[in-house]
Amino acid sequence: MRIAINTGGGDAPGLNAVVRAVVLAAERRGWEVVGIRQGYDGLFMEGGVVPLDGASVSGITHRGGTILGSTNRGNPFRFPVEGADGAVKVVDRSSEVVGRMEALGIDCLIAVGGDGSLRIAAELAGKGLKVVGVPKTIDNDLDATAVTFGFHTAVQTATDAIDKLHSTAESHRRVMVVELMGRHAGWIALFAGFAATADAILIPEIPYELAKVAAKIESRWAKGREFAIVVVAEGAVPQGGEASYLDELGAGGGRRLGGAGKRVARGLEALTGKETRSLVLGHLQRGGRPIAYDRILSLRFGAAAVEFAERGQFKHIVALDPPYMRAVPLAEAVRKLKTVPTDWDMVRAARAMGVSFGD
Ligand code: F6P
Repeated sequence: MRIAINTGGGDAPGLNAVVRAVVLAAERRGWEVVGIRQGYDGLFMEGGVVPLDGASVSGITHRGGTILGSTNRGNPFRFPVEGADGAVKVVDRSSEVVGRMEALGIDCLIAVGGDGSLRIAAELAGKGLKVVGVPKTIDNDLDATAVTFGFHTAVQTATDAIDKLHSTAESHRRVMVVELMGRHAGWIALFAGFAATADAILIPEIPYELAKVAAKIESRWAKGREFAIVVVAEGAVPQGGEASYLDELGAGGGRRLGGAGKRVARGLEALTGKETRSLVLGHLQRGGRPIAYDRILSLRFGAAAVEFAERGQFKHIVALDPPYMRAVPLAEAVRKLKTVPTDWDMVRAARAMGVSFGD
């Protein structure tokens, strides 16, 4: 067997652990492994396909990022090409991807990615490429798996950051509003907000009314607790309104989220008259060393993907169905976004602790 591995979309802590597990598990079976750099772009680049062995993946389990590089602009079905006139046009290079894989003698591609990358993998599988998917995203918004790797590290990073906000908020008697990632799912905001005892958590699944959040803040002041922490998911939606977007387009060509925290901070300051500051934690949530939980999950995902390849279980992703790994068809895996159930016990527990969801 000769297999390939690539990492696509936004990076997530644990990618390197997946790469290591795949390479070691394959090597022990006597297989060859190559890595494709920068998603699928490496197939079209000088030096973009690299042999991987035990030595090349030594000492990377604890490292953030990905040794293979990644891109969230690398859709071979919509590949941007600059013409002689400088104009960029979009071409379909998917058949070239399949052809290059054949020419390289690849028996199976292990595609590590979030919903965008797994959707591409599903389309390539439809064109005959043998693919096994590994679910990755800090957003934890893939319905097929109980959890994606990278999520718990992002939650830890966000929790540590919010912990630090408490003391400065208290010193200055301020409202601190922190915007967290997660696209249109509130997992990171809910988990980090709950762990770091935020006073209000605004998630896309529960449209908020700012007056309700303002009332929560006023109630803290009334009790002599003269500071407040408000966690806002980047995809948070006001009642009757829409999520906050930046003017520029995102990497996939869709609208780019941004400004949710600032919008909430401005509104709260106007309503309460209390000094309010906002910050965006941003890509810090994607960086750094994976915590033990994510390393373990990533190593398990990688080893399981090689088992799938061995038994010819292509067109599937490896999904965690605790305590086991199970196979979910690629097409099914990308069908539904996993969002926070609004009646979930963690939401109810947070409400029981007095957390406002702005509803
Ligand atoms: O999907 C992961 C993620 O970090 C989202 O939480 C965020 O909205 C997006 O990627 C940011 O993407 P970019 O790296 O293009 O800024």
